[in-house]
Amino acid sequence: MNVLSLFDGISCGQLAFERAGIKIDKYFASEIEPKAIKVTQKHYPNTTQMGDVTQVRDGDLSSLQGIDFLIGGSPCQDLSPYKLNRNDAKGLEGSKSKLFYHYERVFKYIKPRYFLLENVVMEKEWEDIITEILGVEPILINSSLVSAAERKRLYWTNIPNISQPEDKGVFIKDIIVPANEVPDKYWYDLPFIYNGDDKKVQCTLDVQKGFQRNMKEVYNQNAKCNTLLADGDGGNRQKKVYQDGRCRKFMPIEYERMQTLPDNYTDCVSDSARYSAVGNGWTVDVIAHIFKGLNGVK
Ligand SMILES: C[S@@+](CC[C@H](N)C(=O)[O-])C[C@H]1O[C@@H](n2cnc3c(N)ncnc32)[C@H](O)[C@@H]1O
Repeated sequence: MNVLSLFDGISCGQLAFERAGIKIDKYFASEIEPKAIKVTQKHYPNTTQMGDVTQVRDGDLSSLQGIDFLIGGSPCQDLSPYKLNRNDAKGLEGSKSKLFYHYERVFKYIKPRYFLLENVVMEKEWEDIITEILGVEPILINSSLVSAAERKRLYWTNIPNISQPEDKGVFIKDIIVPANEVPDKYWYDLPFIYNGDDKKVQCTLDVQKGFQRNMKEVYNQNAKCNTLLADGDGGNRQKKVYQDGRCRKFMPIEYERMQTLPDNYTDCVSDSARYSAVGNGWTVDVIAHIFKGLNGVK
């Protein structure tokens, strides 16, 4: 099986093929973020990196012989529900999300036997455009079925018979690093409001600087974390947990576990790059579940 992965990130696709037991002969990746590429090349040095998708021409595509499978999760920044009330929510015409049209271009050029496109839950108008282009209805899967974090995503694929993954009943407490092994830099020494033992947001942490209050959600270990985002740019945006009477940010290894990545998969880059790459990435077990639909297909 030869694969072309657009917007490959840290190559969660390759991990998922491995986990689904599907042998890959050649794997071509289009990605522009050097730190994500570094993670991919550490684990999969045989990956052929093709760079910026907007620069991948028909001639480059015709030289890739026999691509069986096109996969990709095009950037969602302008489609994400978090942006719907903002002026920059331009949908598929937004500067980032319009890169989907390069997926369409490549899809129409190579006519792969199988394809997978992943994206966020979005306004119906934009979802329908993608559905019309790819010719299949998307399947909605929440990663929380297999992991300790929520992640509702749409998957357009022609792999047959995709059911919902089995609910593994995993919560934050199942993936968390014990408090005595967490380095000092992840803990906060800041005032917080305690909301209650039974609350998903067990505390609200006040990370204000100066006069402006800046209250952050701190999750209960008995709950699921909200969707991880590409939060690596500082500003206390990483998700937080309440542990042993204190608040702290999740460690990158815990982000990895919430995406069902192997422990320390991204440890060749800085913490902030790890949070970003993992928050941008796929939940490997969800993708492996979808790919398993290929087993038995002739
Ligand atoms: C939603 S993430 C996909 C992550 C990926 N599925 C993974 O397993 O990590 C979108 C990715 O598209 C990449 N990207 C953005 N612009 C690109 C471009 N012009 N060409 C190729 N990749 C691009 C981003 O760097 C980011 O890693």
